[in-house]
Amino acid sequence: MRLRRLRKNELLRDLVAENRLSIDNLIMPYFVIEGKNKREKINSMPDIFKLSVDNLLKEIAEIKKLGIKAILLFGIPKKKDKFATEAYKENGIIQKAIRKIKENFDVIVFSDVCICAYTTHGHCGIIKRLMARSKKFIVDNDKTLKILKKIALSYAYAGADFVAPSSMMDEQVKMIRETLDENGFQDVGILAYSAKYASNFYGPFREALDSFPKFGDRKSYQMDFRNANEALREIKEDIKEGADIVMVKPALAYLDIIRKIKEKLNLPLAAYNVSGEYALVKFGAQKGLFEEKQMTLEILTAIKRAGADLIISYHAKELARWLKD
Ligand code: PBG
Repeated sequence: MRLRRLRKNELLRDLVAENRLSIDNLIMPYFVIEGKNKREKINSMPDIFKLSVDNLLKEIAEIKKLGIKAILLFGIPKKKDKFATEAYKENGIIQKAIRKIKENFDVIVFSDVCICAYTTHGHCGIIKRLMARSKKFIVDNDKTLKILKKIALSYAYAGADFVAPSSMMDEQVKMIRETLDENGFQDVGILAYSAKYASNFYGPFREALDSFPKFGDRKSYQMDFRNANEALREIKEDIKEGADIVMVKPALAYLDIIRKIKEKLNLPLAAYNVSGEYALVKFGAQKGLFEEKQMTLEILTAIKRAGADLIISYHAKELARWLKD
């Protein structure tokens, strides 16, 4: 068999290509800040900015023209506290952003439900002492759930299409589904960050949100990167609890997990090409190690080939441009 016959020229290669990136499946993340006409750089994420709502609207007009259909929002609050009270205010940054976006655009809005950017300690859950007067702290799963419910509900009221719980608390999907249904938001979906690993790839994102945990790490709630079966258990739970779309995060170092889950799944599967993956490509390209466009196409196609239906990527906007020309 002469395998190279099918690779003879570009037309032929296009004709027999098994996987193709599409603008239709991309979700572009945004960091939203208070204020007017703000566009702040993030040192660890070249070409990504923290935007005030007015500038975010301009940005969405642009990506809509490029054909992008969905966005994922992260808020940076005015002030942080121990209990993330800014996260569920009717006039919080995300709630304002969603309302404005929905007034102006036909775009699918996913909104991240977590408290790490809203707490002074930077953890994704409410913190309590292990025992009275102990110096050890643990995350209070069930107290956190109460706050996550409030956040999700406030996003639904603002007009979000999907809420995306990412704090990795047990039963977060179930509790949020119940709250949404009780309040008449049966049509608001849940994108569950189901298999979210305790990863070193989140560094740039934490710089953007100033959400580094002030003590300890996230290993007691995010997954151990040595495990694959655990991801299947997490996914199964979330589907049982009512997830509409499930996610693997990060993506590039977890292609085996994407594939494994895809083989067992009958729901849409999303993969999050996270901040660290984005930064590696940007800085590598700046150093002249490779060409950014070709490297990005290779990585995102690999994520697709592994089995991701949807891809969340900071490269989504640039990719949409590249796919157009
Ligand atoms: C946390 C959250 C994180 C990301 C999205 N939501 C990271 C973390 O655990 O600090 C990471 C996204 C990225 O790195 O791009 N709730």
